[in-house]
Amino acid sequence: MRVTPLKALPLEQLRERSSTKWRTYPADVLPLFVAETDFPLAPAITDRLARAVTLGDTGYTPPDPGVRDAYVAFAGRRFGWAPRPDRIRTTGDVIMGVVELLRRVIEPGDRVVVTPPVYPPFYDAVPEAGGVVERVPLSAGPSGHELDVAGIEAALAGGARAILLCNPHNPTGTVHGREALAKIAEAADRFGATVISDEIHAPLAYPGTGFTPFLAASPTAARVGFAVTSASKAFNLAGLKCALMIAGDDQHARVLRSLPAEVEWRTGLFGAMAAVASFAPESDAWLDSALAAIDENRRLLADLLSRHVPGARYRMPDAGFLAWVDLGGLGWGDNPSTRILREARVALHYGPAFGDEGRGHVRFNIGCSPEVLTEAVERIGALVDA
Ligand SMILES: Cc1ncc(COP(=O)(O)O)c(C=O)c1O
Repeated sequence: MRVTPLKALPLEQLRERSSTKWRTYPADVLPLFVAETDFPLAPAITDRLARAVTLGDTGYTPPDPGVRDAYVAFAGRRFGWAPRPDRIRTTGDVIMGVVELLRRVIEPGDRVVVTPPVYPPFYDAVPEAGGVVERVPLSAGPSGHELDVAGIEAALAGGARAILLCNPHNPTGTVHGREALAKIAEAADRFGATVISDEIHAPLAYPGTGFTPFLAASPTAARVGFAVTSASKAFNLAGLKCALMIAGDDQHARVLRSLPAEVEWRTGLFGAMAAVASFAPESDAWLDSALAAIDENRRLLADLLSRHVPGARYRMPDAGFLAWVDLGGLGWGDNPSTRILREARVALHYGPAFGDEGRGHVRFNIGCSPEVLTEAVERIGALVDA
């Protein structure tokens, strides 16, 4: 059955929002940079938060706000995966979870593998936890960007103690294959290293791309890994702090339990309420329609680029609303987003922030209306012949 794509809110209404996306640039700039989406909230979230506001229900988060059970049921429905609720703890956001877990599994000065081009805060999270970034770039494979499994093995053989994965991968939108994940798990096991898998974009994996949660990739993966995830990307809840840290076995569950109580207290009450509403079955239809809208936009972007920016190179993401575009062929320098902002009045995320591999690239946020996306690419296209 064809799902009706969710309609993004009109620009006039979006400009009343007070979040980063709408308050960083003047109103003549189309903001397609930070990872916020332009859709109306899922009705279950609006209802839950409205009820809380009416009640003045704005205190501390209770011991078990229901996030774990809601996520377990969601993971079962969406990924065919059954993590155990007693092996999950919550915290404020995904990067907080990554930092706290890294602190538990590495010693100061240990090397941690990251796989550029990758979400820029990873480069801060590793040193914040006392580690040193070891870069093992993604490699170009037949299906686009792929994890360099041999490179990761070599880094582990050379002493790296942890791997910070991004699955699905920001900015390329790659859904890493089960086989590669299982091989990384084997290598981590062989060298006594730990895998931390950031799965924040997983709820937005397109049907048919076969998203595999790292902990479900193999029995070994369940032993060597942690996953950190949240409803905040798919359901646009970044301002409401709630993320889940998930262990795949009892030993790692003990690591989670050993985290200071303060880590869990950072879970925001509104974040927890919104996460429960997001992961509830009643929000599945909203998620499917958001995904249908983004699916149309990822195809539309290919069409728009081929018509207006023919030198651009783009592979559609397998998941999420971020699109990685190589503009290196246009001769606009290492950071084409500078000229695009100045002359086209379109704000994109800078490629080089994702690592050296991002030179010449930009990241589009396609979680917007087709009209906004069209206007953005047309404006950029006008620079091509200028
Ligand atoms: C891969 C990835 N991890 C983490 C985050 C941020 O999540 P949080 O705000 O929960 O730290 C983002 C935001 O875009 C992201 O793309």
